[in-house]
Amino acid sequence: MAGRVDAMDYATIKLIHQTAVALSVTGFFVRGAASLVDAPWVLGRLAKTVPHLVDSVLLLSGLTLAWTLRLTPDRAPWLLAKLAGLVVYVGLGVLALRPGRPRAVRAAAWLGALAVVGWMVSVAITKHPLGIFSLLAMR
Ligand code: HEM
Repeated sequence: MAGRVDAMDYATIKLIHQTAVALSVTGFFVRGAASLVDAPWVLGRLAKTVPHLVDSVLLLSGLTLAWTLRLTPDRAPWLLAKLAGLVVYVGLGVLALRPGRPRAVRAAAWLGALAVVGWMVSVAITKHPLGIFSLLAMR
């Protein structure tokens, strides 16, 4: 019985994680596009606070999943790859949304961040540090 409850809790947390991923990426896509056309709402309070809430849920649920599975980055190279991707995604994301930079730089950073987060999703699904690129190594 306890095992069944644990399994259900795990499935719930995983669903929360996946939902937070979808919200976070969709939100970043929309804010990035809006910022490129200088939409004023991107600098508003709501557009600045909601992403922090969503990203906290994303991070916390991810940490909980890793904790539950007893995964550490040294024992699960795909998790290490995903965390490295997270650093790059956040860095490019900040660059993309920061006003004052040339539009071409922001656009390139926005596209780069979207590519990186797409690759991160493929790493999570394949559980391989190369993610989608691991398919290239298939014989
Ligand atoms: C932008 C950041 C992140 C993205 C895009 C992302 C994406 C995903 C996705 C799509 C899955 C589901 C994979 C599947 O269907 O099997 C997943 C699972 C998982 N994520 Fe994340 N994640 C992120 C951040 C994190 C962080 C920060 C951690 C932990 C420190 C984490 C730990 C995990 C674990 C352990 C699983 C495995 C769940 C399972 O297969 O049962 N994630 N992630």
